[in-house]
Amino acid sequence: MTTNRVIRFLHRGTLVEAAGFAPMTTVLDWLRLDRRLTGTKEGCGEGDCGACTVALGRVKDGRLVYEPANACILLLGQLDGAELVTVEDLVTDGRLHPVQQALVDHHGSQCGFCTPGFVMSLFTLYHAAGGATDRAAVLSRLAGNLCRCTGYRPIVDAALAACAAPPADGHHDRRATSAAMLAGLADTADVFVGDDNAFFAAPASLDSLAVLMESHPDATLVGGATDVGLWITKQLRTLPKLVHTGRVAALRALDETASALTIGAAVTYAEAEAALGALDPDIALLIDRLGSAQVRTAGTIGGNVANGSPIGDMPPLLIALGASVTLRLGGSVRLLPLEQFFLAYGRQDRSPGEILTHVTVPRPEAGDHLRVFKIAKRHDQDISAVMMALKVRLDGRRIAAARIAFGGMAGIPKSAAAVEAALAGASVDDATAVAAAVARLRDDFAPLDDHRASAAYRLRVAGNLITKGLMEIAAGERSSTRLVPLREAHHAA
Ligand SMILES: Cc1cc2nc3c(=O)[nH]c(=O)nc-3n(C[C@H](O)[C@H](O)[C@H](O)COP(=O)(O)OP(=O)(O)OC[C@H]3O[C@@H](n4cnc5c(N)ncnc54)[C@H](O)[C@@H]3O)c2cc1C
Ligand code: FES
Ligand code: FES
Repeated sequence: MTTNRVIRFLHRGTLVEAAGFAPMTTVLDWLRLDRRLTGTKEGCGEGDCGACTVALGRVKDGRLVYEPANACILLLGQLDGAELVTVEDLVTDGRLHPVQQALVDHHGSQCGFCTPGFVMSLFTLYHAAGGATDRAAVLSRLAGNLCRCTGYRPIVDAALAACAAPPADGHHDRRATSAAMLAGLADTADVFVGDDNAFFAAPASLDSLAVLMESHPDATLVGGATDVGLWITKQLRTLPKLVHTGRVAALRALDETASALTIGAAVTYAEAEAALGALDPDIALLIDRLGSAQVRTAGTIGGNVANGSPIGDMPPLLIALGASVTLRLGGSVRLLPLEQFFLAYGRQDRSPGEILTHVTVPRPEAGDHLRVFKIAKRHDQDISAVMMALKVRLDGRRIAAARIAFGGMAGIPKSAAAVEAALAGASVDDATAVAAAVARLRDDFAPLDDHRASAAYRLRVAGNLITKGLMEIAAGERSSTRLVPLREAHHAA
């Protein structure tokens, strides 16, 4: 197996080979400090504001696609194999890009600090939309871009105007050349930049990854770096050894069978959205509300699980669906029900050097009904205060089995075992039995007070979510019976 001692990516139509960089270097720092390209701005430095948005071009399913990314928490090494496009790269022959011109025409900028980020998010939408977009797609694409002085109406108007036309810019004209250059970077070599004490590595196979992690159990695995990036920029941690999983084809695959989805740990939300969302409209809505477009195109399902956060959105859903995880340490592979992976706050059943390789999600069966509710202060781009996923299997009107999992209610994502037991065998129409089961929540959880919500609020809302879910299921699977706000109604239809 060959090893590349550089990372290789395209920037401004040319091949960049970067060696000797510090492993924790972010794309934003490389652009602004190294290349002196200061059009890309730093606002929050933690993935929240979108001022630093850049576009990454990759060939997916034989087509060149551009996706938005937060340069402040994207590691330079993650650019390997991609095309980097920044706000400096959009003008063609002295003419503004159509999205820039539309922002001018619609008065979409005042102080302009947020504007490069909006331009780059809209650049990706412009290419994805192919001349047909709508307000919902614009709002979803812009949920990760904050503007504090212009207001969103003129920006959304500009987006709708610019993206109504089929793409016709320099990047579209050069797409065949760019795709061919990117194809030339798609080799099967491992990437290792640095030395044994400090490195950025991106093995190309699962075997190489397992060998590397076994010899460096102190290394930090990196999927999309939407959590790890903040350890660097906000917690100022020193992470000398970084191992990126994004080059391992086996971890990038999502396999679908009649009975289950097997999701590689490095599959992003954007890549998993269609398959997971097809299981149930509530899942599609949850993923649409998870982070922003920038976060969903980098962040992985595996990272969300491995991070073990008590307020991560995927674990409660996956626990309710009965998911399991596959872990690999060196040559040994083991399978674990997901719930058993979470041991205590900040502690997972994962040995140093062990890799989460796959998450296997059984498909809901006939008679299964799912409800997923995320309670957060904002609709978009917010972390849950409480998150519930409930799956019940009905046998006629009787609840044959219930799986209910919560985030935000304990130090780990956790099932409401006492509630589940109390519901088993009850009629879904029996309000007294449901209320008695909900009262058992106090046996399952003693939630914390924190800045997101008080313990009393959490317990109250958790009970209400179970009740709401069961009421909806009892009323039947019609959109008119879904107790959803107007904004969410189209997902439930
Ligand atoms: C602005 C913003 C908004 C967010 N919104 C949400 C939200 O709404 N809901 C939500 O749940 N989360 C949210 N997050 C958190 C984050 O996006 C998710 O947790 C994401 O899934 C992490 O995936 P990643 O690939 O980026 O993980 P990384 O940051 O790369 O890694 C996270 C952890 O997993 C470990 N890891 C990664 N891959 C593996 C592997 N294969 N094997 C073992 N360990 C591994 C890493 O070492 C690290 O401990 C948000 C983050 C940001 C910055
Ligand atoms: S600077 Fe705010 S998202 Fe990067
Ligand atoms: S124009 Fe000032 S923050 Fe958007």
